[in-house]
Amino acid sequence: MTAAIQFENVSKCFFLRHRRVYSFQETFVNLLRANRNRREPFWALRDVSFAVQQGETLGIIGTNGSGKSTVLKLISRIIEPTTGRITVSGRLSALLELGAGFHPDLTGRENIYLNGSILGLGRREMKRKFDDIVAFADLGQFIDMPVRSYSSGMHMRLGFAVAIHVDPEILLVDEVLAVGDEAFQAKCFRKIEELQQQGLTIVLVSHDLGEVKRLCNRAVWLADGELKALGPSEVVTAQYHARSSGVYAGSMERA
Ligand SMILES: Nc1ncnc2c1ncn2[C@@H]1O[C@H](COP(=O)(O)OP(=O)(O)O)[C@@H](O)[C@H]1O
Ligand SMILES: [Mg+2]
Repeated sequence: MTAAIQFENVSKCFFLRHRRVYSFQETFVNLLRANRNRREPFWALRDVSFAVQQGETLGIIGTNGSGKSTVLKLISRIIEPTTGRITVSGRLSALLELGAGFHPDLTGRENIYLNGSILGLGRREMKRKFDDIVAFADLGQFIDMPVRSYSSGMHMRLGFAVAIHVDPEILLVDEVLAVGDEAFQAKCFRKIEELQQQGLTIVLVSHDLGEVKRLCNRAVWLADGELKALGPSEVVTAQYHARSSGVYAGSMERA
């Protein structure tokens, strides 16, 4: 099997500038210090290694702030790793934060063309896909309204519809499916299953352990930026669930 995505000892450090309000005394002391503009390093990921095989669906679970979105941003090259190596082979399409990649003043229709051109699709190719995207998003008259007026569920509809219709080999989905109504969520899951059958490589971040168990072959559990567990999704979700409810106590688990 060939790896579509590979993380080798990847760490990511952000520098946080403190924005707290200083007292008069602190301000005075800070003025005397040479490093008053010092920024605090924050390690969002530490020494994370894993591979996603071609055609596999990998789930990523973990509490808020554990580094899940950071992993997806690294895969899509929005950000660079501080240390370590990332290899991605295949045409990538990502549904990350809601509204990311959409221009608020343009209509849904105009944004579809904008996204298509950013993703390197020709106008003719885009025209062919356009009706499918519009039909999948099922936004009614809102397709001709500025995206600014969209609810989060409508943003997600458009984002998902674009992401799956640009012939990706790798699809990244970050939590956003939860904002859709039940019917649309079910439609997305059916579509994901269809894409799996076509051999797409998928990385799915979700808080819904049932969804991860059902859709993912394997799962990664991140805790404070560290890889806590990696293995079959039933095993890892069970470990995570037990830990969240205070039963499980262990360190690194490789299933
Ligand atoms: N651009 C950034 N600058 C500073 N800190 C960041 C940045 N992006 C993420 N972080 C921090 O890194 C940690 C992991 O973030 P994230 O990957 O978004 O977590 P998750 O998606 O698991 O909730 C969080 O503490 C977050 O505040
Ligand atoms: Mg996140």
